[in-house]
Amino acid sequence: MTEAGRYKQAYARWQADPEAFWAEAAQAIEWISPPQRIFDASQGAYGRWFPDATCNTCFNALDRHVRDGRSEQPALIHDSPVTGTKAVYTYAQMLDEVSALAAVLQDLGVGKGDRVVLYMPMIPEAAFAMLACARIGAVHSVVFGGFAAKELATRIEDAAPKVILAATCGIEPSRVVEYKPLLDTAIDLSSHKPQACLILQRPQVEASMHATRDKNWRMLVAAAKANGRKADCVAVAATDPLYILYTSGTTGRPKGVVRDNGGHMVVLKWTMDNLYGVKPGEVIITASDVGWVVGHSYIVYAPLLQGATSVLYEGKPVGTPDAGAFWRLIAEHKAVVLFTAPTAFRAIRKEDPQASLLPAYDLSHFRALFLAGERADPDTLVWAQDILKVPVIDHWWQTETGSCIVGNPIGLELLPVKPGSPTVPMPGYDVQCVDEGGRPVPAGTMGAIVIKLPLPPCALPTLWQADERFVESYLAAYPGFYNTSDAGFIDADGYVFIMGRTDDIINVAGHRLSTGGMEEVLASHPAVAECAVVGVRDAVKGEQPCGFVVLKSGITQSPDAIERELVALIREKIGPVAAFRLALTVGRLPKTRSGKILRATMKKIADGEDYAMPATIEDASVLDEIGVAVRGRGLG
Ligand code: COA
Ligand code: AMP
Repeated sequence: MTEAGRYKQAYARWQADPEAFWAEAAQAIEWISPPQRIFDASQGAYGRWFPDATCNTCFNALDRHVRDGRSEQPALIHDSPVTGTKAVYTYAQMLDEVSALAAVLQDLGVGKGDRVVLYMPMIPEAAFAMLACARIGAVHSVVFGGFAAKELATRIEDAAPKVILAATCGIEPSRVVEYKPLLDTAIDLSSHKPQACLILQRPQVEASMHATRDKNWRMLVAAAKANGRKADCVAVAATDPLYILYTSGTTGRPKGVVRDNGGHMVVLKWTMDNLYGVKPGEVIITASDVGWVVGHSYIVYAPLLQGATSVLYEGKPVGTPDAGAFWRLIAEHKAVVLFTAPTAFRAIRKEDPQASLLPAYDLSHFRALFLAGERADPDTLVWAQDILKVPVIDHWWQTETGSCIVGNPIGLELLPVKPGSPTVPMPGYDVQCVDEGGRPVPAGTMGAIVIKLPLPPCALPTLWQADERFVESYLAAYPGFYNTSDAGFIDADGYVFIMGRTDDIINVAGHRLSTGGMEEVLASHPAVAECAVVGVRDAVKGEQPCGFVVLKSGITQSPDAIERELVALIREKIGPVAAFRLALTVGRLPKTRSGKILRATMKKIADGEDYAMPATIEDASVLDEIGVAVRGRGLG
């Protein structure tokens, strides 16, 4: 068969018989007991995949490759310009590290189903820890290092981990971020206390240890190795959770997205072959963070399930040391695919618009750039295409799905790229565009993007210990469909365009943040009467949060001083990742007659866009005041 038509054929095969499609894909995984049933519609909120199978994800990621002749092949390359170090771990070495760490976890009392929270920077031990949990059937929950103690505390409270694994610091180009004080504060804030913390002392920060709770990671792993202690793979049900990953909801309380062991493996393996086209033995660089879903799936699990080599990059696209960082990585590690967020390319373009640093590197083996995490604006996509001269693939997904919903499956065939569209639905996803009543809209018409149930393997079966919240958040609005909370349209060729969220989630430098969560923090300031946070356009980060606040009457403190306190408060309560720098004091907020704050109109004013006067507005003159306030800060 020629390449043309391979996507259509694969999608049609899935449509005709989804169970046969996933049963075939499941053959690429080594099961302990293979699935006899592929899907059980009677279980869970919309059904469960591979309900009777047992497996171990770590076995498929490591042991299997060591057994099958990949022992000496690099599994993980740590490339860290921020520390000036590089390290390579072969599959055999990685298996040794992971099985020793897994034994240490068992010695600390961690067993099947126990939760383990990881608060780790971009170092190999983060990947070892995830796999060590998988090996013994424990459920990991990685918390991104850019979150503050309170966010970490919320996750500890919800996941109730038996043990927490953390390093003493993360390294940002401008500063060393000490994790231990954040961790200690988070444990103090949480009513749930872990039995132990395994602390990895990094050379940059030697943290003092809690006398009974904290254990020294390196010493315990060294002792386990010296004693020949290794944990074996534990059999888990395919439907047992591999991990919980918290993501922003519409309030300050994050949602614990649950990922199955079995379905996750089946789909990730399928995507390596068919979507990314990365073969065993090849190298992929995913420049994200292990704290995000992209990092879970494409720094750690998918490359290893495929027997490929993954580059774990502890650095930035610019400034470590320059805007040629990605080109150096690709050339030096002979990567065939780079996966990152569009914001990284906007940052590179801003520093080096002519890509003058590129010609110094040999990128002859490089095949494709994949972008996700936020909409790839056509301008950036075309720029990347022009300089790299390889396909630049935008693809759309969510933490909830764990892998791509809409993409361009170059492993099957490269479909024509339409800048602005992540292309077409992947097998497993019946993507539709509907109006508020759930009726399909004509091609090219904006609407809510929904997915017909059941969701495919790998997508979340539920939220951690919150089945009702799962149904309310995702399944209730459009019966029979999963509500993505993204809006967009589908054109006459079936290309999907994702234009933005329909809820109050914003995307800042590819990071998903809740404006509702930020409003809760602003409202907690004693001088604030009411507030509204909107995402305003930013040339590099896509969006940045902007908080409009109305002060209580009788406040004597200057608005400037309060605004500075509010910026510090968000950093303290949510973390630097919120990138909250704009707090604007205004006299009033624009509202409808029923009291609803007109956030969308405020955003348009701040972005300098035309807006229609809302028919229900209580007092239109407030909008002029908002205009004056934003222009005072160089917006609008
Ligand atoms: N630990 C601690 N702090 C962190 C952090 C981490 N893991 N990651 C980011 N931060 C901090 C940054 O240092 C910055 O702090 P500052 O306010 O003191 O400067 C703040 O959080 C905001 O970070 P960010 O929004 O990432 O901005 P930046 O200026 O540091 O970098 C980019 C901008 C575009 C270079 C950067 O965002 C990037 O590389 N993005 C890639 C996107 C990505 O990985 N997305 C994941 C989904 S695919
Ligand atoms: P996250 O869960 O952090 O991966 O964020 C998911 C959200 O990011 C989606 O709901 C979209 O709003 C946005 N997003 C991710 N990838 C894309 C893309 N390729 N195009 C448009 N929006 C995207």
